[in-house]
Amino acid sequence: MNNDIVLGIETSCDDTAVALVNSAGQVLSSVVASQLDIHSAFGGIYPEFAARAHISSIIPTVHEAMHRADVKPEQLLAIGVTRGPGLISSLLVGLNTAAGLGLGWNKPVIGINHLRGHLRSADLDQQRVKYPAIILLVSGGHTFLAYMESTTNITLLGSTRDDSVGETYDKVGRMLGLGYPGGPAVDKLAATGHPTIAFPRPLLRTGFEFSFSGLKSSVSRYLDNCENPVYEDVAASFVQSVMEILVKKSQLAIKTYPAKSFAIVGGVAASPQLRSAAAKLSHDLKIELCLPPVKWSTDNAAMIALATFDYLNLSMLKEPLPELHLTISDF
Ligand code: KG4
Ligand code: ZN
Repeated sequence: MNNDIVLGIETSCDDTAVALVNSAGQVLSSVVASQLDIHSAFGGIYPEFAARAHISSIIPTVHEAMHRADVKPEQLLAIGVTRGPGLISSLLVGLNTAAGLGLGWNKPVIGINHLRGHLRSADLDQQRVKYPAIILLVSGGHTFLAYMESTTNITLLGSTRDDSVGETYDKVGRMLGLGYPGGPAVDKLAATGHPTIAFPRPLLRTGFEFSFSGLKSSVSRYLDNCENPVYEDVAASFVQSVMEILVKKSQLAIKTYPAKSFAIVGGVAASPQLRSAAAKLSHDLKIELCLPPVKWSTDNAAMIALATFDYLNLSMLKEPLPELHLTISDF
């Protein structure tokens, strides 16, 4: 029997996600139990409710993923599970479930860094990324630029000193009364407005580090001080600032490092404005652009399963994995 399949489990935040991926990176099934209805009432994620929802969804979601792919436990090579960063009460549900399944099915369980999952997401279903690559990671929790010589040789070029892009989008969305998550709604509103307001572009010309808290405060001050703000124009001006920052920093990275491709990953990679700004940038700099489909940009378990293969490949070069153990991957 062909046992080259990894079961991935991702419960770092508000979605219970389980996926099955084979060694070629093909996604055999990917099931997400969304908690959007629970959290939208609070305008953000309520950790206690997130953990409780994970507890009730995790086993049915594992069953559904196995059923949809028609995979039996014997066909699994390993179980990969997000070990962090994330909400600890949410992470524990995934980690404990993975440990229990590993014991019951006699499979190794590997703890995977969530960001490593995002970094590999552009390669799901097909090998898009040509290495060495410049990767811009823009999610709700993180923002950074990395130079990846290979899937496991990663150099961090610079990250945000304060807020992430996704968080900034969500806060601005809340200021504009758009609910949670703010990202897609801000983009939609921005598309109907004009970028008439000169919001700042913090750290625009200083290396690879990012800063977004000043931009967020500036939007807040503008809304406090303006008598009749045009929300569409506020959104359009905010998005223009964000795009200029992301494009400028990516451009510097592409010009500095000998990359064959440029990838954007993480929830904000779903942004149509970012997708078209990236297309223009790659065209101008003559570099191949790799964008994961929107479903692999936001949190999912397939990316965790794919990153698990990287770990397995590396550790198998050194020594075979013991029959059963929980490994924390920090390669
Ligand atoms: O990667 P992700 O699903 O979760 C984390 O690991 O954080 O990213 C979630 C973030 C949220 O802040 C959300 O507002 C943002 O991605 N996002 C977007 C869009 N879709 C999701 N931001 C801008 N435009 C979008 N279309
Ligand atoms: Zn994420």
